Amino acid sequence: MVSYKELGLVNTREMFAKAINGGYAIPAFNFNNMEQLQAIIKASAETKSPVILQVSKGARNYANQTLLRYMAQGAVEYAKELGWEHPQICLHLDHGDTFEVCKSCVDFGFSSVMIDGSSLPYEDNIALTKKVVEYAHQYDVTVEAELGVLAGVEDDVQAEESHYTKPEEVIDFATRTGCDSLAISIGTSHGAYKFKPEQCTRDPQTGKLVPPPLAFDVLDAIMEKLPGFPIVLHGSSSVPQEYVDIINTHGGKMPDAVGIPEEQLRKAAKSAVCKINIDSDSRLAFTAAVRKVFVDKPGEFDPRKYCGPARDEMTKLYKHKIIEVLGSAGKAE
Ligand code: G3H
Ligand code: 13P
Ligand code: ZN
Repeated sequence: MVSYKELGLVNTREMFAKAINGGYAIPAFNFNNMEQLQAIIKASAETKSPVILQVSKGARNYANQTLLRYMAQGAVEYAKELGWEHPQICLHLDHGDTFEVCKSCVDFGFSSVMIDGSSLPYEDNIALTKKVVEYAHQYDVTVEAELGVLAGVEDDVQAEESHYTKPEEVIDFATRTGCDSLAISIGTSHGAYKFKPEQCTRDPQTGKLVPPPLAFDVLDAIMEKLPGFPIVLHGSSSVPQEYVDIINTHGGKMPDAVGIPEEQLRKAAKSAVCKINIDSDSRLAFTAAVRKVFVDKPGEFDPRKYCGPARDEMTKLYKHKIIEVLGSAGKAE
């Protein structure tokens, strides 16, 4: 048993309380490799933003859970080296799907876990979430739960249609499970293709898709039922069109990739939404930068020469999200 406290990590409790009161959101960035982690830490240290490092099932399969945890431990030291005296870094399990995987993360030094029972029948979601909460809280590890189903890909779970969270269920769910935060469905979606073209309109000038707005009425109704309770938005990448364009003009093929407009995330961040999950945008930044090097310098074969620019591009992206979208810069001085 390793406590996250010994590793210099923090759970989400205080982060979220401050974020709700301060009208901003904490960035939750997924990482799968060293370059992503370096970029996240550099951006957070340079802006003094609290940050949540997320590890998904896909990341655990790709990079190994043990290695990722040691990398996060190293990240705390790296942050200090960068001059961030008191780093506020949370290590979070993204989309945990069983009690066992949540327990293994709690036991191994994660400071926060998500148990995603959103695809289960309501009572089963409650039972599983409650079991994880009871275990995690013994070690002061915070627990995120999910109610409602997002469209798109949730790790292995394919949800064809999104089912918005039902505001009439949230009090019962939060009370009976004891969860610390709740991921909700209000129209966000995982991946780089969040909406089908038929769900969107098209900008006549650029030909780009304009996605349908998020269901802020559902968010408002949830906040009314659970005043001051931390809300989480998954699937919140914006799919920056400049990256999509670079990819498409440098040998890639990502037609009609579309995300959540940043002004909608800015609006959400000012509310009880205090954690915003971003993964796909970092993948796009990485891919655009690598594709550009491959086209511009076809003789290049040193991975540092294409992963380096990719890391710089991701750092720029993370800083932009922190400063311009979530408003979390300077909140972890
Ligand atoms: O919620 C999904 C995240 O973007 C993680 O995706 O399972 O491909 O790592 P992944
Ligand atoms: P995106 O695919 O929109 O980046 O969402 C990531 C996410 O929700 C991770 O849990
Ligand atoms: Zn997610």
